[in-house]
Amino acid sequence: MLPDMQPYWEAVLEGIREVTRLHGFRRIDTPAFEYAGVFEKGSGDTTDIIEKEMYVFEDRGGERLALTPEGTPAICRAYLEHGMASWPQPVRLYTTHAMFRYDRPQKGRYRQHTQFDCEVFGSADPLVDAEVIAVLWRLYERLGIRNVTVRLGSLDDIEPRRAYIEQLKDYYRPHLEKLSEDSQRRFARNPLRLLDSKDERDQALKEMAPKLVEQLSTPAQAHHEAVTGALAAAGIAYAVDPLLVRGLDYYNRTVFEVVPNDDERAQGTLGGGGRYDGLMELLGGPPTPGIGFGSGIERLILEMQKNGVTFDDGSVASVYVVHRAEGAGAAVFALAGELRELGIATVIGETGKSMKAQMRGANHSGARFAVIIGDDEWAARQAVLKDLAGEGEQESLPLGNLATTIRARLEA
Ligand code: HAM
Repeated sequence: MLPDMQPYWEAVLEGIREVTRLHGFRRIDTPAFEYAGVFEKGSGDTTDIIEKEMYVFEDRGGERLALTPEGTPAICRAYLEHGMASWPQPVRLYTTHAMFRYDRPQKGRYRQHTQFDCEVFGSADPLVDAEVIAVLWRLYERLGIRNVTVRLGSLDDIEPRRAYIEQLKDYYRPHLEKLSEDSQRRFARNPLRLLDSKDERDQALKEMAPKLVEQLSTPAQAHHEAVTGALAAAGIAYAVDPLLVRGLDYYNRTVFEVVPNDDERAQGTLGGGGRYDGLMELLGGPPTPGIGFGSGIERLILEMQKNGVTFDDGSVASVYVVHRAEGAGAAVFALAGELRELGIATVIGETGKSMKAQMRGANHSGARFAVIIGDDEWAARQAVLKDLAGEGEQESLPLGNLATTIRARLEA
């Protein structure tokens, strides 16, 4: 995250603090690494994240550990380990956490990214589904990210989904040899993921495949309608996407992704998540419904830039001290210290550099004032104060109360 990106980063973090506050979330931070089993059990061992992307290593004690590839199982683990089931439910948690995935790096896809992650435990209420989607929506709006759509789907519950998966396999079986190698593997290991193929060879079949969202069980259909009703009432632009299956195994019912409208191939998904009512049990806990999402902060920054969001952040300091007087170094250093005590950001030019080079530094720094101390000024215990923002007015002032004079000028 280079310096130019930092104002964006700050704006995103500030936006996250504000929207999570508005929705009653509390912050949690989990470690950078966990037992690998937390993710193998939690995320699903036939997902790309676990099969291909997780960084796994053995520590000196022979434990298999993994760098966190996604936050949800880690936060569930913390919920169980720290008895959060006895807190008033639902428990709303958020984090911003470094995630590690051995992915093919490209713009917006990194081997380390940072995710804004929200999770709500202990409620099966469809309004909670709409609420987490609203958190994302509100954040994006705040950040100036426009023209995005929430793609919404439902994966039903596990039992009715089993029947659908059989139907999907029956549909694909006669065409197996026409599928990409990846999809052939998915057919055997994780058929739902057939609908997530980006391979050209799989597209035609995918379009015509039976759609789960069109044949939901009665409770899942009611849940789905309650979610869409709440989203519509909140003015959140959503579109039901019957092909949305997501890359993780734990989801049931609501799944969603937020995608820029101009992103045809859904490469730049800004955030995604869904409901995972069975995950806590998979990890050894009591039945505890849950729902959440993750949204990559680096992608949000790219999207803000695409939306023309800019920050006026040229300035590294308010005062730049230019000095070229024999023996004045300590006094210059003390003056800068006084200014900083007053809360005024100050940079000192490098001792021994020419006045001209230091003045160039002052002009580039974006500072409002240059304080210039040459031999003559130093002999008189004075400095020249030059206003770099105005017409370049300058005046000679005594060093003694220079710091407070500058503060008064800055506040004027
Ligand atoms: P995910 O879809 O794998 O879901 O990732 C969520 C978001 O993280 C993506 O939409 C994207 O913005 C960002 N992201 C993922 N991989 C990368 C990458 N390699 N480089 C940059 N950004 C990336 C999850 O991780 C789930 N834990 C979300 C969730 C929470 N579901 C329920 N609760």
